[in-house]
Amino acid sequence: MELDIWNLKFEEFNISTMNKDVLALWPELEWINNEALREQTAKTWELAFERSVLTPEDLNRIPFTLLVGPDLKVTFMDHKRSVVHIARDAGQKINDMYHGELTVDMDVLIAGAILADVGKLLEYELDENGNAVQGNYGKYVRHPFSGVSLAEEAGVPAEVCHIIAAHAGEGNMIKRTTEAYVVHHADFMTFLPFKERLKV
Ligand SMILES: [Fe+2]
Repeated sequence: MELDIWNLKFEEFNISTMNKDVLALWPELEWINNEALREQTAKTWELAFERSVLTPEDLNRIPFTLLVGPDLKVTFMDHKRSVVHIARDAGQKINDMYHGELTVDMDVLIAGAILADVGKLLEYELDENGNAVQGNYGKYVRHPFSGVSLAEEAGVPAEVCHIIAAHAGEGNMIKRTTEAYVVHHADFMTFLPFKERLKV
C-alpha cells in the first residue's frame, strides 16, 4: 500500500515536471520565468514527439533545411536553438535601449521562439535512408498551423500561439506583435543567407 502511494506521488511529480528528454533538448526552457508557461511549452514538445516519427536524436542529426544540399552541418537543433538565442539577445537590447517605447515580453518571446517550428515534427517523415522529407500531412498542413494545434492542446496562451502562426511567410499576411517580428527575423536572417545570399 505504501508503495502504491509512493508510485502515485512519483507519477504526479512526473506530470508536473518537464520531460527530461525535452529539457535535455531545450535547456533554454529555463529562461522562461513563468512556471505555467514553461511547462506548457515543454508539454507542446512532448506531444509533438508522441506523434512524430522523429526522435530527439534525429533532431541533432538532420540538417535544418532541405534546400542547401546534403552536406550541411547545421542541424535542426543548431538552427532552432540559435533562433532562440538571437531572439533573446535582440529582445533584451530592445528593452534596454528603446526607453520603454518598444517593449518585448521576454517570456512570450522565448516561449514563441522555442515553439516556432515544433509543428515540423508532424511535417516531416523519414525516407528509407533516414533522411527527413516532407510528408503528405505536412504538404497540406504546414508547421505554423500544426504547431498552433499542438500548442493549444498543451494550454499555450494566444500571444505565444500568435508567434508560431506568424513566424513564417504566412505571417506576412497579418499584423505581427513585436515578439512575433523578432522571432520571424531571427529565423529568416539565419535561413535566407543559406538559401540565396549574394556570393562574390
Ligand atoms: Fe518555421
